[in-house]
Amino acid sequence: MTQRWLHGVEFDAKSFARGNCLNKWRVKSLDSILATAEKKSLTRSLGAFQLTMLGIGGIIGTGIFVLTAEAAQLAGPGMLISFVLSALVCGLAALCYAELAAMVPVSGSAYTYSYATFGEILAWIVGWALVLEYAVAASAVAVGWSGYMVGVLDNFLGIQLPAELVTGPYAGGIINLPAVVIALAVTWLLVLGTKESATVNSVLVTVKVIALAAFIFLAVPAATADKFEPFLPLGATGAIGAASIIFFAFVGFDAVSTAAEETKNPQRNIPIGLIASLAICTVFYMLVGAGVIGSYGAQPVFGPNGEALQPGSPELVAQCKTFAEATLPVVCSNEALAHVLRAIGHPGVGNVLGLAAGFALPSVVLMMMFAQTRVFFVMSRDGLLPGMLSKVHPKYGTPHVVTIITGLGVAISAAFFPVGQLASVSNGGTLCAFFFVSLAIMTLRRTDPTRHRSFRTPAVWIVAPLAAAGCLLLFGFLSFVAQMVFFGWAAIGLVFYFIYGRSRSNVARGITVVGELDPGVPPQGVAPLPGIHTPGGKDA
Ligand code: ALA
Repeated sequence: MTQRWLHGVEFDAKSFARGNCLNKWRVKSLDSILATAEKKSLTRSLGAFQLTMLGIGGIIGTGIFVLTAEAAQLAGPGMLISFVLSALVCGLAALCYAELAAMVPVSGSAYTYSYATFGEILAWIVGWALVLEYAVAASAVAVGWSGYMVGVLDNFLGIQLPAELVTGPYAGGIINLPAVVIALAVTWLLVLGTKESATVNSVLVTVKVIALAAFIFLAVPAATADKFEPFLPLGATGAIGAASIIFFAFVGFDAVSTAAEETKNPQRNIPIGLIASLAICTVFYMLVGAGVIGSYGAQPVFGPNGEALQPGSPELVAQCKTFAEATLPVVCSNEALAHVLRAIGHPGVGNVLGLAAGFALPSVVLMMMFAQTRVFFVMSRDGLLPGMLSKVHPKYGTPHVVTIITGLGVAISAAFFPVGQLASVSNGGTLCAFFFVSLAIMTLRRTDPTRHRSFRTPAVWIVAPLAAAGCLLLFGFLSFVAQMVFFGWAAIGLVFYFIYGRSRSNVARGITVVGELDPGVPPQGVAPLPGIHTPGGKDA
């Protein structure tokens, strides 16, 4: 590779001459991506076990603990099919992620793969969609956590927080203060450092797994076949609609790939982390779902005239009020799993399960925010977002500026929006990212067939098209509001791109930052331009 210095900036003359960096789509070469990551890397501290724990930390959360009730309202016992469908789409996408993450072990996930495959505009749209996936999911889980904590404070300590301070305006409140507090607390943890965050995460993951295992242990043996009838009270479309919501329960495994730059031996450990975390959680979810249905029943609640009611709707809330606590259907409960345990004769364990969920859900907020900051970090390093965002803290070695900005955004949306809406919006962004990852893997197999792939997706020409089709199917069943938010967000992103990123992107300026030269000691003593970074992350 030929390096030159142009106004103090490293300039890859060869690829520039090829037109590679100024081509119409601004496709970024994989070599340049890998070299850039090599040059400005974060501390590599994560192994396969820690990655798997991070993956499980991201996956098990509000989806299974809170949204199971919403899935039951849409699908009844048929939500088992919804679990399978969501797991299938995620599994297919995970196999695509694994190949790309091992081949391109850099932060940025779907955004980075899209940059190398489809060029800058699509990469920008995907990176922008990842904000919906990660940051909005973090907000959703913060809101879910808030609900549990309010219950725990009440049940265990008899403390009742003022209603105006525990929900947003959507439910007659002012602000969801507990959700804000947890978002800011997690931000603080992330600023202190990945290693510390991962250690805390491991403890919390263990708590969640024990809570789900206890549920399975008590509920599954109590299952009877009659509870599974009628299996599809709202037909197949109900099951697919439920899949588009319960999909949220599986989101999070892909966040493992955004930790690639902080992973030891990423070629081996990233695929292990992705696939192991997803596989473990799928087994747990199927057993939990079977336990809910078989032990207590999970039929939807209908309106006075037998009409289907939407989860979270005022009509459903009104109908739920007609039931006594002892016979409250699971679809009416805000703490589905704890409610089932209480109802089948294990009230103590049910309360402790609620406590465990309240204690452990912050690990999901942590994982989502961790992933979000790394995506912003890479977009900033590419020149598409302001360079100050990729500053690394001199003491903690973490991208503190972007972490604090992300934390504030998560706290604000958690303060004012309901969990179901946030989860659906998040799913829209996630499905977009999965879709492009599925396309990217096929494209790169054609355009870059000889590059070393330490993990190769099996039957890629079946797996990747099915993953893409599955994403489109689930997106089509998302709520209209969630779809509109997605397209609106993409439009805002494009405006920002054309105003800011398009003219400033490193690729547009023919800049590649490669590993062989040390810009800390530029040739001929020419100082690098502001915004071009030196190893260790300090702006030059
Ligand atoms: N999968 C994560 C959850 O269920 C986002 O909370």
